[in-house]
Amino acid sequence: MSDLHRPGLENVIASETAISYLDVEQEEIVIRGYDLIELAQKVTYLDIVGLLLEGVLPTLSERRDMEMRIQEAYGLPENIRSIIELLPEQANVMDSLRTGISALASYELELDDRSQEANDRKAIRLLAKVPQIAAYAYRSKMKQPFIEPDMDLSYSANFLYMITGQIPTQLEEDIFDQSLIVYSEHEMPNSTFAARVIASTQSDLYGALTGAVASLKGTLHGGANEAVMMMLLEAGSEEKLEAHMLSKLHKRERIMGFGHRVYMNKADPRALLMKKALAELAIIKKRPELYNMCVLGEEVMLREKNLHPNLDYYAAPVYYLLGIPIDLFTPVFFAARTVGISAHVIEQHNHNRLFRPRVHYTGPRDLHPAVSESH
Ligand code: SDX
Repeated sequence: MSDLHRPGLENVIASETAISYLDVEQEEIVIRGYDLIELAQKVTYLDIVGLLLEGVLPTLSERRDMEMRIQEAYGLPENIRSIIELLPEQANVMDSLRTGISALASYELELDDRSQEANDRKAIRLLAKVPQIAAYAYRSKMKQPFIEPDMDLSYSANFLYMITGQIPTQLEEDIFDQSLIVYSEHEMPNSTFAARVIASTQSDLYGALTGAVASLKGTLHGGANEAVMMMLLEAGSEEKLEAHMLSKLHKRERIMGFGHRVYMNKADPRALLMKKALAELAIIKKRPELYNMCVLGEEVMLREKNLHPNLDYYAAPVYYLLGIPIDLFTPVFFAARTVGISAHVIEQHNHNRLFRPRVHYTGPRDLHPAVSESH
């Protein structure tokens, strides 16, 4: 047996997939043959949902049909609302989301049906309910009333509306929709890998997503976007940011929002797109200093660590200016990624091989227990 051990599975090919691929050399995020960044500027998130789940971009009528199926799936069972409301006030919204998805599994009549059709139907139901669980968990924590979806709004506008209670402007809806697209799918990050590992035992989509929520919460992964905003607010201003970052680096702390296992010393194409969105939003919201602060932070990390920003670095201030509470930054990331992870779970169920790696054993050998009188 080869003793090829790669810590953290760095650069190990874990699966074959027709869903996505990070072509670092070409600086292209390939999604079912398309460039994600081009898609994010030309289509809507629901088009991406169709592309990821069905393998082809939907026609306008197919997209409208999908939107109707999602709208029909809005609504949480009373007991799920009660479970979320029973969680303590200090509960992290990602933990509430994980609990809500896990509890929702027991209401899924097709839970253990792993056919493509059943999994597709479950994915559509989850696309409706995951944003609701996230928004509800936050509003319950803040003792605010739950906002029911407005069927006259698009999927993205509704998601923002259920969080903020405000109907977004067209620009806010477009920027938020673009952020959901760039968050939707990214090859084999830790959370998608966790979901495929769980699905490979023939466990169900809800269980795979539950594991993925737990993974994505971590600050080395999806939790980074919340940490980015906390750092920017802690620093307080452009003038204080550099010193704030340097003091963290001198303490050998990580600056969240920078670096990436795959992009290494290259820019994350998604970050560049969100940087443009932030520039536009900062002007509209009369917060140019926030944009300038982020650009300065990028310069500091490039100079000090030769590290580029990842998507989370620029998505965070975009979400902040859209009025999304920081506690919901990572849940929004997860909600957008629900479709990508579902596509991977469906692919795993369709062409399955159980994940069961080996180990490089470094412990002792040939020990024997002393025979004691007690036996
Ligand atoms: C996401 O996989 C995906 O595709 C994920 C994602 C997706 O769409 O699903 O893109 C979303 O998770 C983006 C990443 C969000 N995480 C962060 O922003 C957290 C901060 N970044 C890092 O912790 C780090 O860059 C990782 C975890 C993202 C990647 O880490 P690696 O590949 O394991 O690299 P490493 O930890 O071995 O670091 C290499 C060196 C180290 O220096 P030395 O200790 O060798 O001197 O770079 C340093 C690290 O200390 N380093 C950083 C740093 N990131 C790496 N130093 C300071 N700040 C950082 N952010």
